[in-house]
Amino acid sequence: MSPYLTFSPASLVNMSKAGAFDLASGLGGKIEKNDVLSAVDKYEKYHSDFGGAEAERKANYTDMVNKYYDLVTSFYEYGWGESFHFAPRWKGESLRESIKRHEHFLALQLGLKPGYKVLDVGCGIGGPLREIAQFSSTSVMGLNNNEYQITRGKALNRAAGVDGTCDFTKADFMKMPFSDNSFDAVYAIEATCHAPDAVGCYKEIYRILKPGQSFAAYEWCMTDAFDPNNQEHQKIKAEIEIGNGLPDIRSTRQCLSALKDAGFEVIWEKDLAKDSPLPWYLPLDTSHFSLSSFRLTAVGRFITRNLVMGLEYVGLAPKGSQRVQSFLETAAEGLFAGAKKEIFTPMYFFLVRKPQ
Ligand SMILES: C[S@@+](CC[C@H](N)C(=O)[O-])C[C@H]1O[C@@H](n2cnc3c(N)ncnc32)[C@H](O)[C@@H]1O
Repeated sequence: MSPYLTFSPASLVNMSKAGAFDLASGLGGKIEKNDVLSAVDKYEKYHSDFGGAEAERKANYTDMVNKYYDLVTSFYEYGWGESFHFAPRWKGESLRESIKRHEHFLALQLGLKPGYKVLDVGCGIGGPLREIAQFSSTSVMGLNNNEYQITRGKALNRAAGVDGTCDFTKADFMKMPFSDNSFDAVYAIEATCHAPDAVGCYKEIYRILKPGQSFAAYEWCMTDAFDPNNQEHQKIKAEIEIGNGLPDIRSTRQCLSALKDAGFEVIWEKDLAKDSPLPWYLPLDTSHFSLSSFRLTAVGRFITRNLVMGLEYVGLAPKGSQRVQSFLETAAEGLFAGAKKEIFTPMYFFLVRKPQ
């Protein structure tokens, strides 16, 4: 990537290595550039604001989720970095530092030991996987159903020098191509919320985990404060679903009971958003300015919006790019509103064990 092609106030402070050129060239993922606009149309139609229904999203979850990640991955990498998740925030930490600490916490809770064979369920482009493998001297396999993200992740693994110990498998986490009892530890970061059925997904994780070993995750959930009969709450939930490729956001209680139904023994669980010294949603707060996450600030988003418009106009970014940018903005608004009302959390943590 030429630094001259990179419009990047943020690269000055090293928030994300992806610049405007990567944003434009990666937009649409594996979708043919001429088909991006129609893919956006099809994606939007899965959601309630565009007449879609939950049953249809669940029945077509592979198509819906893959379209979503083909369309948004380069935006994520550009704005957020290599790890696509939130984190509790502490004073004095950059977003990147908080994200790494959140990843280390999982490694610590799982008791990872050198030599362990670990599975990352729904691994994105592998930011957490590289960090956790290096932090704990383990081999981590990333499971992901999105081909574009795997191609990107493999290139980043080679660049980080972890390609000898870490790899990716392209498959659906509802039916994993691994034998029973084959992993020493499993984790999932903000990924299993895409599952059409939590019990089915957790049962697969249970099957491939060795007896006596642990599974830990951060789940996206509606909290007890969510009232399904409140129209404003419903609107916020729908905004989060469309903006994030989700069939239906489960409650913390539903996740907990699904874990038990799958056969797990619950060690402990907690919504970590409750104890975050600074709000986890700080990066989504447009009134907040941060140099280290400049692209997420009001000014940064304004620049990105115009940049995408310009790139689409001159043909460097495919037609439909601005529409993707727009539903991502809807997502950010929904997440922020859900967070302020405390009806939504992206960090419902649990540590569970497969009995001996
Ligand atoms: C929000 S991203 C989180 C990625 C990663 N855990 C991270 O924190 O950077 C959710 C991930 O789950 C993956 N995913 C969604 N549904 C999946 C499925 N049915 N099977 C496998 N992976 C899936 C997506 O492709 C994406 O990589």
